[in-house]
Amino acid sequence: MKLQRPKGTNDILPSESYKWQFVEEKARLVFGGHQYQEIRTPLFEHYEVISRSVGDTTDIVSKEMYDFYDKGERHITLRPEGTAPVVRAFVENKLFAPEYQKPYKVYYAGAMFRYERMQKGRYRQFHQIGAEVFGSDNPATDVESMAMVMTYFEQLGIKNTSLHINTLGNTESRANYRKALIDFLMPHFEELSEDSKRRLHENPLRVLDSKDAKDKEVVKNAPSILDFLDEESSKHFETVKTMLEALEIPYVIDTNMVRGLDYYNHTIFELMATISGKELTVAAGGRYDKLVEYFGGPETSGFGFALGIERLLLLLEEEKVEIPNPNQVDVYVVSLGEAVNVETLKLVQSIRKQGFSAERDFLNRKAKAQFKTVDKLAAKLVITIGEGELEKAEANVKNADTREEKAYPLKELYRDFSVIYDDLIKG
Ligand code: HAM
Repeated sequence: MKLQRPKGTNDILPSESYKWQFVEEKARLVFGGHQYQEIRTPLFEHYEVISRSVGDTTDIVSKEMYDFYDKGERHITLRPEGTAPVVRAFVENKLFAPEYQKPYKVYYAGAMFRYERMQKGRYRQFHQIGAEVFGSDNPATDVESMAMVMTYFEQLGIKNTSLHINTLGNTESRANYRKALIDFLMPHFEELSEDSKRRLHENPLRVLDSKDAKDKEVVKNAPSILDFLDEESSKHFETVKTMLEALEIPYVIDTNMVRGLDYYNHTIFELMATISGKELTVAAGGRYDKLVEYFGGPETSGFGFALGIERLLLLLEEEKVEIPNPNQVDVYVVSLGEAVNVETLKLVQSIRKQGFSAERDFLNRKAKAQFKTVDKLAAKLVITIGEGELEKAEANVKNADTREEKAYPLKELYRDFSVIYDDLIKG
């Protein structure tokens, strides 16, 4: 019997959870400032919601789904990503109706599930923060979304990322390119890896971003999608580039980047960073103009991205960004002796109700041990109360930093603690 957590999952302990809260809160602020509102969809979906939209031949669907039949014989899968569920919800709840603001913008944060091989920054339960925009064909939407990710990273204090962009063109351009790519790859069939041999007819574009050394050698001379774009596709991509330049956002064009999900057309992008010497994609996304229709909604274009929270936290560590720990205690009450137990309880509750964070000793420890805790918690003020103080109905309050100390009547602590706080902290 296994009583450990399943492989690929993590317990997020208090020593880490405040960092999660920090990045999530920052995302809410930045995305909210761009008029995105939060959407929460179920952690599991009907298998079909994911399979055809993400693509039956993608690794995500063919190898990595946590799917099962529930007690009602429904084919269910834990969600491996957020876009297909959000598009399903967009259509199911008729969020395309005229009463909603267009473009319609939502963001989400939560757990995703993929049965993947374990590596640094790759888990089976991982967490994404993502955003989706519906109803704008304007390339400015592509650029605004990419710029929003960059702003978010900047505001977190991350400096070293690189933006890789590519285009998959519209349906016609892609079909032409697909044909040309198969024609190019066929004479090299025997040189390809087993995975790429299989992908050649199912999903030939995926051969381009294979990590296999032999495949890489073959695709070096492959035709580029950029030579197969029709006028509409090429205009869209040119405008995206011009707009990125207008915002002075540096980018790299990577024509071998294709993304591991099938729903994209036109612009796709990945934000890369080096973590422990390894290039990892921290955020990624692109345009998907056919997905809403696929789910039975009206013709509505889409653009979105998602970033991996675990990878983001690794990157923050790599870049030595200090995340403020919000658990610093304003007041610690050093409570000396059984006789003051009740008074300490009342005092701590009162101070908390007055809006301060407070903690106390519960274990009847010696003064020395309690003062150690004061240091550990980095408490700003220390109140000491023992039998002597209780008799005089007062308590000692000390600024832990400057060591300035004064005795105050207990009454005053109960009446308005902020006066004492200001007196000792602000001087
Ligand atoms: P994705 O590239 O599959 O795209 O995932 C986006 C990000 O999620 C990755 O860049 C990575 O940071 C993180 N991620 C993915 N898989 C794992 C894993 N196994 N462990 C840790 N982190 C992981 C999507 O999911 C699309 N839905 C993005 C999108 C939104 N496109 C349009 N809208």
